[in-house]
Amino acid sequence: MTRSMIIGTGSCLPERVMTNADLEKMVDTSDSWITSRTGIRTRRIAGAGEETSRLGTAAAREALAMAGVSAAELGLIIVCSITPDLVMPSCACLVQKELGALNAFAFDLNAACSGFVYGLDVADKYIRADPEIKILVIGAENLSARVNWQDRSTCVLFGDGAGAAVLSGTDQDRGLLASRLYSDGRLWKLLSLGGAPSRNPDLDIIGNHEAVIKMAGPDVFKNAVRSMESAVRRLLDDQDVDIGAIRMLIPHQANIRILKSLAERLELPFDKVYTTIQKYGNTSAASVPVALDEANRGGALHRDDLLLFAVFGGGFTWGAALVRW
Ligand code: UT7
Repeated sequence: MTRSMIIGTGSCLPERVMTNADLEKMVDTSDSWITSRTGIRTRRIAGAGEETSRLGTAAAREALAMAGVSAAELGLIIVCSITPDLVMPSCACLVQKELGALNAFAFDLNAACSGFVYGLDVADKYIRADPEIKILVIGAENLSARVNWQDRSTCVLFGDGAGAAVLSGTDQDRGLLASRLYSDGRLWKLLSLGGAPSRNPDLDIIGNHEAVIKMAGPDVFKNAVRSMESAVRRLLDDQDVDIGAIRMLIPHQANIRILKSLAERLELPFDKVYTTIQKYGNTSAASVPVALDEANRGGALHRDDLLLFAVFGGGFTWGAALVRW
C-alpha cells in the first residue's frame, strides 16, 4: 500500500521582528496583556521582497534541497494561503515560475489556518493515485498586510511566514497514516477576511469590503479547542492509537491558552506540544509547516515517531493528521 511520506521540510520567516513593546506604541495594549492572554512575544512582519509567493518559494527551496528533489521532478505544487499575492494567477503558479518547476501543475488551497493539513490530505490522494509523483505543499501568509492596525483585538495576534514540505510515495509503513478534515460554513461570520466587494448582499452585513481580518475571539477560542479535540479523538480512535503513543503534537499556533487547554483535554503532557507561537504569533496556514520544519531541523523528530497535527481556522475548517516519521 502506498503512503505519502514527508521527505523534506523548509521554512522562511521575514527579517523584521515586531515586539509587544512595538505594539504598545501603536494601539492601546500592553506586553503583559498580550503575553498572558496569547503567549505571543514577537512576530515577523514581511517587507518588500517578502510577499507570500516569495516567502513560499524560499521555504520550498529549503524543502527541495533537504528532500534531494529538483524543481523539475515536482508533479504538483499546492500553496495553502488566505493571503496570496493575487487572486489570479494563483500563488502556486507564481511559486512554480520562481522555482522553474515546469513539469508540475499548481493550485492554491484556501482552508485558512487549517490549510497545511488540508494540503497534506489532498496531496496524499494524488500520491495514492500516482505513487511516482512528487508534491510540494506550502503554507505561506502575509497576514500583516490584511490586519487592521488600529484594532488591538486582532493586530497583536498575527504574523507572516512560510513553511513547506515535499511529499513522495513509499511502500513502507511510515508517512501519513491518516487524516480527517471538517468544515462548518454556518459559523463563517466568527472569523473572516474580506476581499473585493462582494455582489452577494448577504455577505455585506459584516462590511466585507474591508479587506481585513475580523474575529469574534472568545467564540473562535471555544470552537478551536473543542473542534481540534474531537478531530484528534476521532482520528486516534479510527487508527486504534492511544494518546500515550504520540511523541509530539504539532498544532496550529493561535494562542498558547488554546494549546494548553487542548493538551489538558487530550491528557497529553504539554512538553509534547511543539510551540512557536511565542516567536511568530499566528501565521495561519504557515504555522504548522514552520513548526514542523523547526522541529525537524532542530533534531526533535526521530524515525518512527508518531506525530499528530491538529488545526482549526476560518470557515470554520479543522482537522487532524497522524504521521509516522
Ligand atoms: O487562527 C484561527 C483561530 N484563531 C484563534 O483560535 C484565536 C482564538 N481567540 C483567542 O485567541 C482569544 O479570544 C483572543 C486572544 C483573540 C482574545 O483573548 P480573550 O481572553 O478571549 O479576550 P477577550 O476578547 O474576551 O477580551 C478581554 C478584554 C476586553 O476588555 P474588557 O471588555 O474586558 O474591558 C478586550 O477589550 O481584553 C481586551 N483586549 C485587549 N486588551 C489589551 C482585547 N484585545 C486586547 C489587547 N490589549 N490587544
